[in-house]
This record gives sequence, structure tokens and C-alpha cells, in this order.
Amino acid sequence: MEGNLVLLFFLLFFRSTFQQQEHSAPLSSRAERAALLQLRSSLGLRTKDWPIKSDPCLAWIGVLCQDGSVTGINISGFKRTRIGNQNPKFSVDSLANFTKLVSFNASRLTLPGSIPNWLGLQLQTLTVLDLRFCEISGAIPSNIGNLSNLGELYLSDNNLTGTIPSNLGLLSHLSVLDLSRNSLTGLIPSSLGSLAKLSLLDISSNNLSGAIPEDFGNLLNLKSLNLSSNSLSSSVPTHLGNLSSLVVLDLSSSSLSGSVPAEFGSLRHLQRMVICNNNFTGDLPDALWSLPNLSFLDVSSNNFMGLLPNLSLNANTTMAVFNLSHNMFYGVLTSVLKRVSTVDLSYNYFQDKIPDYARNVVSLDRNCFHSWSSQRNVKECAGFYSRKGLSFDNFGLPNGTIHRPLGDHKSNRRMVIFAAVLGTVGLVLLFVILVVLLIICSREERKTTEIGSGLGPSAAGTGAPGASLNLFGEAFGYEEILAATGDFNDGNLVKNGHSGDVFKGVLEGGIHIIVKRFDVHSRKNSCRVELDFFSKVSHPRLVPLLGHCLEKEKEQFLIYKYMPKGDLSSSLYWKIGSDLKLLDWITRLKIAIGVAEGLSYLHHECVPPLVHRDVQASSILLDDKYEVRLGSLTEACIQDTDSHSNKITRLLRLPQISEEVASGVATATCTYDVYSFGKVLLELVTGKIGISASSDSTTKEMLDGLLPFISIYDKELVKIIIDPSLIVDEDLLDEVWAMAVVAKSCLNPKPSRRPLMRFVLKALENPLKVVREETSSSARLGTSSSRNGSWRHNLAAGCGGKGDLKVGEDGCLSARRYSKDVFPEPMGLQDEERWNED
Ligand SMILES: *[C@@H]1O[C@H](CO)[C@@H](O)[C@H](O)[C@H]1NC(C)=O
Ligand SMILES: *[C@@H]1O[C@H](CO)[C@@H](O)[C@H](O)[C@H]1NC(C)=O
Ligand SMILES: *[C@@H]1O[C@H](CO)[C@@H](O)[C@H](O)[C@H]1NC(C)=O
Ligand SMILES: *[C@@H]1O[C@H](CO)[C@@H](O)[C@H](O)[C@H]1NC(C)=O
Ligand SMILES: *[C@@H]1O[C@H](CO)[C@@H](O)[C@H](O)[C@H]1NC(C)=O
Ligand SMILES: *[C@@H]1O[C@H](CO)[C@@H](O)[C@H](O)[C@H]1NC(C)=O
Ligand SMILES: *[C@@H]1O[C@H](CO)[C@@H](O)[C@H](O)[C@H]1NC(C)=O
Ligand SMILES: *[C@@H]1O[C@H](CO)[C@@H](O)[C@H](O)[C@H]1NC(C)=O
Ligand SMILES: *[C@@H]1O[C@H](CO)[C@@H](O)[C@H](O)[C@H]1NC(C)=O
Ligand SMILES: *[C@@H]1O[C@H](CO)[C@@H](O)[C@H](O)[C@H]1NC(C)=O
Ligand SMILES: *[C@@H]1O[C@H](CO)[C@@H](O)[C@H](O)[C@H]1NC(C)=O
Ligand SMILES: *[C@@H]1O[C@H](CO)[C@@H](O)[C@H](O)[C@H]1NC(C)=O
Repeated sequence: MEGNLVLLFFLLFFRSTFQQQEHSAPLSSRAERAALLQLRSSLGLRTKDWPIKSDPCLAWIGVLCQDGSVTGINISGFKRTRIGNQNPKFSVDSLANFTKLVSFNASRLTLPGSIPNWLGLQLQTLTVLDLRFCEISGAIPSNIGNLSNLGELYLSDNNLTGTIPSNLGLLSHLSVLDLSRNSLTGLIPSSLGSLAKLSLLDISSNNLSGAIPEDFGNLLNLKSLNLSSNSLSSSVPTHLGNLSSLVVLDLSSSSLSGSVPAEFGSLRHLQRMVICNNNFTGDLPDALWSLPNLSFLDVSSNNFMGLLPNLSLNANTTMAVFNLSHNMFYGVLTSVLKRVSTVDLSYNYFQDKIPDYARNVVSLDRNCFHSWSSQRNVKECAGFYSRKGLSFDNFGLPNGTIHRPLGDHKSNRRMVIFAAVLGTVGLVLLFVILVVLLIICSREERKTTEIGSGLGPSAAGTGAPGASLNLFGEAFGYEEILAATGDFNDGNLVKNGHSGDVFKGVLEGGIHIIVKRFDVHSRKNSCRVELDFFSKVSHPRLVPLLGHCLEKEKEQFLIYKYMPKGDLSSSLYWKIGSDLKLLDWITRLKIAIGVAEGLSYLHHECVPPLVHRDVQASSILLDDKYEVRLGSLTEACIQDTDSHSNKITRLLRLPQISEEVASGVATATCTYDVYSFGKVLLELVTGKIGISASSDSTTKEMLDGLLPFISIYDKELVKIIIDPSLIVDEDLLDEVWAMAVVAKSCLNPKPSRRPLMRFVLKALENPLKVVREETSSSARLGTSSSRNGSWRHNLAAGCGGKGDLKVGEDGCLSARRYSKDVFPEPMGLQDEERWNED
């Protein structure tokens, strides 16, 4: 035992010293030392990086040696000496003197000039050449095809012109070829098809129109040229279908035209294919849909025309993100869409109904679908179909009927008269509502400015009117803020909030901050309101206020801690290149609980209760660990306790329109926050951003489309609407389902039936209890005798139902009545039917 340990230590010791020695052999060749010095001076590198008195192998940054010879030179991003900067040149002649050089990385070091011709003939040992972002111009020398050991060639983001040399096809070991973002012209050489080991091919953002260069005829000594031969019908050579190792193919924005070779269907290992922004025509090869590992396909903005294939797909194919938008695809949606987790179909000519499996679609805009909003008009659709000699189904209506966009109704005379009468009544009603609103608004304004006088747990008793404003946080100087935000540079603008513009900035000490600029002359002094709020209320779930700057006459500023993850609306989805990434479930649940904690604090621990009034994804700020910090606090105010006005609004409220929609103004009740939070939960469940951002009719439409799929009695149903990336295992699915159920109960159209925030919080903390206890038979029968702690039981307690609350008599609690059935009813039965009829 002991002996073994000793042996182990010995081995470890030996290994590390051995490795050290291997790497720390000094440079042995005088010629290579001279060559390094020459390179150092021809490129103007600094003593700091390559100190002249030390041994290059031991002390020079980026010089890699083996057995006393230089094998790697990595001068990526190096700064030059002042003299070197005056006349930078692509002057690397001395590289020829390294006989064992394997990799040369000079990316982001400016090397104006063209790639020297000798490079291909001299650096025979090279396997990696990285010259990205080097401002290189001129053509790629065809000699580069002689670098027979080359495995990775990066020449992207330069100013390269001329054609892609067909000699590149000789590089039989090449696995990466990146020529993107240059000005290359001509054709893609078919010789590239012989690069059997190529796994990444990126020639995007060039000008490979396939146009024959003007001097082409002279070059070949031809008098005339017949271009109608097959090989030129596409500017993409069919030979690329031979790239059997290809994983990433990017040909976007390269002025390519013609059809996509059917041979691309044999790129079995392909995971990512981007050919957007070209002028491709014809159909997309069906075989692309069944490539097993293809997880990202972007063919948007081309002239593709064709039907979706009707394939039954191998169950093993990876879920994928596809973008087919801005083409001329037509016909009906087919079940191949089950292959995708997210797909954009907008700006095509698809027709007919939208099947259930098309729920993964992020956009259906500008097509020819039945009963769907934002579609093309009948003229465009019928025109397209008749030009193609196809029959258009006229949005499913009988021939001759004119289609109106969704929301309009068939017009007949009776309808018009009815509408006129309704309109008059409506106008009168609107007037009355306006008057009431005006009264309420003025009251609310008074109230919000009163916020400083006596709220928050600490201030419960000290509500002396006229008490001087307690300025919370540090006072910043205007100059300091100017410096931090670069004079409110547009580049630092985060967003134009409704109460003021929001900038990011850095203080002198390197501390990142967020600065909100308020206009003092706005309708209400939001800055003051918010400052008052922060002086009375503090909670780890609220965005940390660092200080303020009130020294200017016209503008005031609040300074907050910087939130590295931004807000929920920007971090639910984010893009890596053109890949969409989504937050994982654990993080989403954590965020939901965080928000519930914050709102619970405002609703239940502040006396009198506070209402946030602006709960939406963009108000939910996230720190580096995705901990929630609620922001957008300028709308926060004391819960509306005047039951008198509530009665008036309730009387005037049109049936079926919830309070939020009726007034258009965020009402100051806790139930309003609960409703808004329900929309946020729905966003987390479905992964669709934008639900919580507004309360207009599109949101209503969206909710009507989603809620019928949420039922406590049917788990399978919810799978249709949830973000497909969340369907991982059963436990997790149950949690997602539970959150959906909670969301639905928060979205109850009747404010009095929405659960209290503290119970919502409890439910989110124990999501499995929500669905698992409730699916027991007793609950199913509605004779629930749920035990203590059950979500349903707590919900049923309603607002103020229990005597254990700190605030019993006041605010939202007493204003609401006991409700036995807050639980989502198997409601939406009608909605579901309506849905199915569509
Ligand atoms: C190259 O050098 C840069 C800067 O010194 C360093 O950040 C990078 O990791 C190096 N890359 C390789 C592949 O050695
Ligand atoms: C070259 O250096 C850059 C920056 O350090 C690095 O990102 C890149 O991966 C390197 N190139 C290769 C081929 O390793
Ligand atoms: C480097 O190589 C060039 C050409 O191969 C040669 O002329 C020169 O003498 C060599 N330099 C050294 C220091 O060996
Ligand atoms: C590329 O070349 C054009 C014209 O020669 C020049 O205007 C442009 O600045 C160059 N771009 C880079 C990145 O060097
Ligand atoms: C470079 O490659 C071409 C084509 O294979 C060959 O004809 C030529 O001899 C090579 N040149 C050298 C110096 O190896
Ligand atoms: C692309 O090439 C064509 C002809 O080859 C030329 O007319 C066009 O201006 C080029 N476009 C760009 C953006 O360089
Ligand atoms: C060009 O070639 C195609 C097929 O090879 C032939 O049908 C056509 O007549 C030729 N066009 C001319 C102008 O020679
Ligand atoms: C490459 O593909 C072309 C056409 O797709 C074919 O004719 C050729 O034989 C293939 N070449 C190799 C080396 O497989
Ligand atoms: C697909 O991806 C999986 C996992 O990355 C891998 O094991 C498999 O070999 C790939 N299949 C193909 C055909 O590339
Ligand atoms: C794209 O192709 C179509 C048909 O081939 C042609 O009419 C159109 O001019 C092309 N557009 C561009 C921008 O090249
Ligand atoms: C799915 O993959 C497994 C293993 O990778 C394989 O055994 C099975 O045959 C595949 N199923 C189908 C339908 O191809
Ligand atoms: C509608 O009329 C068009 C021609 O006007 C005809 O082709 C089509 O079959 C008709 N459709 C129906 C459903 O009658």
C-alpha cells in the first residue's frame, strides 16, 4: 500500500520533471535563432514579447520548440513597436529557415500585402496556417497546394481577391478550409470535392457569382464559349457531395446561383449547413431532411421553390433548427416538420391549415395559410399559384369569396348596420371609460408620489408626511457619469426604457454600472419615485441601486449595479454564430422562483402592499449566476385600496375583457402582477419570447392559442406547446407541466380567481406536488380533500383566507374574496373546440 503510494509520487514527479525538460530545451540551431531575430525585426515585434537576451524557446511568447527546434510560432494579436507600426508589411521571408515549423498563427496581426508565392514551396512541414484578420490583399497563390501536410488553413476576414485556386484540392490532409469574408470571385473549383478529410468548409461572404472573369477567354485562347453546358448550371460543383467527412458547410452570402446539387444529400456527417443570402433556385434536395446529424440548416433569402417532402424520418435524426424563410416554398406543411425543434417559414407561399406539429414554428408570417394572421393577400397568393400553373385553395373559402385577414368578418349589410349601432354605443361607453380613467389616473399619480411616505417593512410606522427625502446610495458627479458612459455614447445604450434611456458604463475603478437617464420634465418625476422606493424598500431580489446624480437641472440619473446576464428577454435565447441556444430548465425554474420571491416580498411583506405593475421579461434582470433582480421599478406603487373606484371600473368593464385589457393602464392591484407573471411563466415554458411584453390583441391571440393545451388532467397535451428542448425526461417534463399549470391559473381572466403570489411561490418551489398530488383520483373527481401544503389547498385559501399573514386587514388581501376554485378549470373546452375547427 505504502509502496504503491511512493511509486505513484515518484511517477508523478518524474513525469512532471520530464515534461518540463522536454519543453525547456533551449534553441539549438544558430540559423533558427538568426531567423527568429530577422522575423522579429521584419515584423517589428516588441522586446516585451520577444526579449532579445533570453532564449526564444524558454522565454519568448508564442514560440514553441521541440528538441531545440522551432515548431510553432503564434504571434496572434501581437502589438508592434512604434517603428514597426509605421510601415507594417507581409514580410516573413525568414520563415523559410525553420525546417520543422508545424504551425504559424499570425491572426489579427496586420500584414498588408499579398501572400508570398514561395510560401507553398518552402514551408513543407506546415500543418496549421492561420492568417485571419490580417488585412492581406491580392490573390491566393496556387502554390499553396504544395503544402502537402497542411491540415488547417484559415484565411478569412482579409481582402483576398481573384479566384479560389483549384490546387487547394491537392491538400489531401486538409480538414479546415476557411476563406470566408474576402472578395474572392469566380467559381468554386470542383477539385475541392477531393478533400476527403475536410470537415469544415467556409467560403461565405465572397463574390462567387460564377461569372466568368473577363480575361478568361484570353487565358484559354478561346474564341467563343458555350456556357449552357451542365457543369455551369449551378455555381456549386456537384463534386462537393464527395466531401464525406464534412461537418460544417457555409456558403452564405456568396452570390451563388443555380440549384443545390442533390449530391449534398450524401454528406452524412453534416451538422450545419448555411447557404442563405444567395440566389439559389430549384428545389431543396429532399435528402437534406433526412441527414441524421443535421442540426442547423439555413437556406433563407434565396429563390428556392418547391414542396416540403413527405418523408417518414428515421427516429434517430437529430432535432434541428431550420430557416426556410424568404423563398418560394409552397403547398401544404408536412410531417417532416416533426424533425425540427424550431423552424422559420415566413415569406413563402405555404397554404392550407397549420397542423399541430407545426407548433415549433417561430414565424408563419406572409404565407397563404387559412385563418392565420399576417398572411399575404389573395392577389399575391393566387398570382403566385397561377404563375406556377398550380391551383390555389383560396384560404379554404369557396371560390369567389374574398379572403380577409384574420380578425375581420364576412361583410354583409346586416353586419354593417349592427356594427354602426355598436359603434355608437361603444363611443358613448368609451367616453365614460375615459372620464373614469382620467379620475383614476390622477389618483394614481398622487399615490405614486406618495410612495415615500410610509411603505416598506422598515417604514411601517414612520410615515410622517413631509419627511425629507432620504437620498439612498452614493451621490455621483455628472462628470463621473459622463466619463463612465463615454458621454452617453450610442454604443453604450442598452435600451430606451419607457421612463428613461439606459446606458452601460465603467467607473474609474473598473466597476461596471448601468445608468438610467430620466427627463426631469416628464409627466411624473420617475427618478424621484424610484429613489423614494429604494429608500424605503430593500430586498435581494430587487436590482441593487448604487447611487444617484441629481446635480443637473434637466436630467437626473440613477446608477445601478451592472447585471452581466442582462434581462430575461435577451437571455432566454441567445445566438452563437447563427445557432440558437436556450436556457436550460433548471435555470428557468430558478428564474421563475426568483421572480416569485421578489413579487411575494412586494405583495405580502410590505405594508401597505406594493404592486410592481411592470412584470415582463425585460424587467427581470439576471446577475452572473442567473439570480433574479427585479428592475423597472418606476411603475411600482401602493396597492389600490379604494374599493369604490374598483366597483365603478368593474361595472364599466366589458364582459370577457380582463382588467388589463380594458383599461390599457396597468392597474394597481396585486392580481395584475400575478397575471403578468403568468405570461412570463408561459414564456419560460414555451420558449417563445414576447408574450409578456405587451397586452395587445396579438398577445391575447397567442394566449388563446396556448392555454387550451394546458390541463392538469392531460400531460401529453402540454408537450405540444412546450419548448422542445425541454422534453428530456419524465421528472423534468412533470416540472415543466407544473409550471404551465401554475401559469394558467395566474392567467385566469377573473382577477379574483388568480392565486396569491406567496402560493405561486410555494407551487414553484415544489412543482412536482402540483401535478402529482392533483392527478390522484380524489382530485380528479373534484372532491379534493388535499392535505396541508398542497398547492391546490393553498390556492383555494385565496386572498386572505388564512389568518397567518402579516397583513390581514389591508390592501389586496381584504379586497378579494375567498375562492374555492382557483384551480385551472378544465376550461378552454370551448377554446379547444374552436382551435380544432380551425
Ligand atoms: C496564441 O497566442 C495567443 C496570445 O498570446 C494566445 O491567447 C493563444 O491561446 C495562442 N493560441 C495557441 C493556439 O497557442
Ligand atoms: C491562433 O490564435 C488565435 C488567438 O489566440 C486563436 O484564437 C486561434 O485558435 C489560433 N489558431 C489556431 C489555428 O489555433
Ligand atoms: C534563410 O534562408 C534563406 C533562403 O533559404 C537563406 O538565403 C538565408 O541565408 C537563411 N538565413 C539564415 C540565417 O540561415
Ligand atoms: C480592402 O480593400 C479595399 C479596397 O482596396 C479597401 O477600401 C478596404 O479598406 C480594405 N479592407 C481591409 C479590411 O483592409
Ligand atoms: C507543386 O505542385 C505541383 C502540382 O502538384 C507540382 O507540379 C510541382 O512540382 C510542385 N512543386 C514543388 C516545388 O514541389
Ligand atoms: C461581384 O462580381 C461581379 C462580376 O464578377 C461584379 O459585377 C460585382 O460588382 C461584384 N460584387 C461585389 C460586391 O464585389
Ligand atoms: C451549347 O451546348 C449545348 C449542349 O452541349 C447545345 O445544345 C447548344 O446548342 C450549344 N450552344 C451553342 C450556341 O453552341
Ligand atoms: C465525385 O463526385 C462526382 C460527381 O458527383 C463523381 O463523378 C466523381 O467520381 C466523384 N469523385 C470521387 C473521387 O469520388
Ligand atoms: C452523429 O453524431 C453522433 C454524436 O455526435 C455521432 O456519434 C455519430 O457518429 C454521428 N453520425 C454521423 C453519421 O456523423
Ligand atoms: C437570381 O436569379 C434569377 C433567376 O435565375 C434572376 O432573374 C435574378 O436576376 C438573380 N438575382 C440576382 C441578384 O442575381
Ligand atoms: C438508431 O441508432 C441505433 C444505434 O445508433 C441503431 O441501432 C438503430 O438501428 C437506429 N435506428 C434506426 C431506425 O435507424
Ligand atoms: C376555383 O376556380 C379555379 C379557376 O378559377 C379553379 O381552377 C378551381 O378548381 C376552383 N376551386 C374550387 C374549389 O372550386
